[in-house]
Amino acid sequence: MKIIVAIDGFAASGKSTIAQDLAERTGYTHIDSGAMYRAVTLFGMQNGLVTSSTDINSKKLIELLPTIDISFDRTPDSYSTILNGKNVEKEIRSLEVSNLTPHVAKIAQVRNFLTARLREMGKNKGVVMEGRDIGTVVFPDAKMKVFVTAPLNISVERRLKELKTQGNPATYQSVKADILERDKIDAAWTHPAEDAIRIENGAEPLSDIVQYLLSIFYNLTEN
Ligand code: DC
Repeated sequence: MKIIVAIDGFAASGKSTIAQDLAERTGYTHIDSGAMYRAVTLFGMQNGLVTSSTDINSKKLIELLPTIDISFDRTPDSYSTILNGKNVEKEIRSLEVSNLTPHVAKIAQVRNFLTARLREMGKNKGVVMEGRDIGTVVFPDAKMKVFVTAPLNISVERRLKELKTQGNPATYQSVKADILERDKIDAAWTHPAEDAIRIENGAEPLSDIVQYLLSIFYNLTEN
């Protein structure tokens, strides 16, 4: 029996790595909903509708939502986000997009638009979908829900490493401030579902966490 696995958590909690690993081991399709919020933000920036956190033309952006097509291109070793036919994987990971996305994600119509897209993508189950509100809003009936947290210092180190590999060195303090600011806004729609398995992604090796989640997954799918 195929199920939906919902993996939610705050910025830099390491939920993407867990979701990717779990999808790979179960043969499920990994869907990164954060990439879709980022792609809508990038679309707004490219069209001059999102220029800063306080200057967002939400009326026009809402009007143009039906013209936004977002899909994913997957190969065994890469995962790319496609916005209206163009690979934007690199652009959506920039610091500017990261910082503007929570302000776009605040717009109720953007949330409704992406929630509908995500429900469509997961309708046949067999997906590991990661985000903030997957287990509470998008698929409240998901069979398996996980909520990932991490100590702040580990989240900062994780994001610093990621930025460095992208050739984008930043300071510990600036990354810490960015994470705290994003989490403050995202807190409005980031909640663990009551029936979510809580994972503190700190010192424990990733392989142990995934192994633990896999045992729960097989229990749920084999019955
Ligand atoms: O997971 P991430 O850092 O790539 O998410 C990018 C932004 O999108 C973040 O500010 C939260 C927002 N988001 C959301 O509001 N709802 C989701 N289901 C996923 C992401």
